[in-house]
Amino acid sequence: MEIIRGKTPLVIEATALAARQTVYSHTLIDLGTGDGRFAEAFARQQPDWFVIGIDACRENLQVRSRAKLPNVVYLIANALELPAEWSGLADRITINFPWGSLLGGLLGGYPALLDGLLALGRSGAGLEIRLNAGALAEAGWDLEPGAAAIGAVLAANGFHARGMQALGAAGLKAFPSTWSRRLAFGRDPRALVLRAKLPNYPRE
Ligand SMILES: C[S@@+](CC[C@H](N)C(=O)[O-])C[C@H]1O[C@@H](n2cnc3c(N)ncnc32)[C@H](O)[C@@H]1O
Repeated sequence: MEIIRGKTPLVIEATALAARQTVYSHTLIDLGTGDGRFAEAFARQQPDWFVIGIDACRENLQVRSRAKLPNVVYLIANALELPAEWSGLADRITINFPWGSLLGGLLGGYPALLDGLLALGRSGAGLEIRLNAGALAEAGWDLEPGAAAIGAVLAANGFHARGMQALGAAGLKAFPSTWSRRLAFGRDPRALVLRAKLPNYPRE
């Protein structure tokens, strides 16, 4: 797998990543991490968590991945083609304000994405998906029906729904991601968070 620090890509074996991870009590994976701001903020606030930020776009990560925090790494990967060896890593998975193929994969129930999410998480891991109206509109959906469609995809794939909550402009401002701040001050600050839990293993 490819880890990034500034402009320097390095290859790291899954076993080496797992060895780093064992020092920490929990692991968060932030999929579609963008510039990694949320991953970094979470790692600072929760030093007993190991945080893995993943994005398909290496340019997004070049600045923040230089940070020297010991408990955060950034990996380059397409969420729709997650490597099979990345399994059972996460206690919690976040997908904040997805767009493009990540959002399309959630809406369309793309099997490689859903299987990848199920594989990434540990038994009963939490999943949080923050969705914004503008990205869903570009994909042809209104906010609530789009979120409901993703909820239905998750349920059909064995995730347990844990509810949906509106995020107003104040909620967006308070959330430490670059995209959240941008949305909070933009034309359409409508967003919500969809929460679910991965199945308990062995599979119920
Ligand atoms: C609107 S940005 C949100 C970034 C960040 N989560 C935030 O809140 O600031 C969406 C991100 O999803 C990433 N993305 C889109 N499709 C992806 C895919 N198939 N695999 C991985 N990342 C993807 C993009 O590269 C982009 O960084």
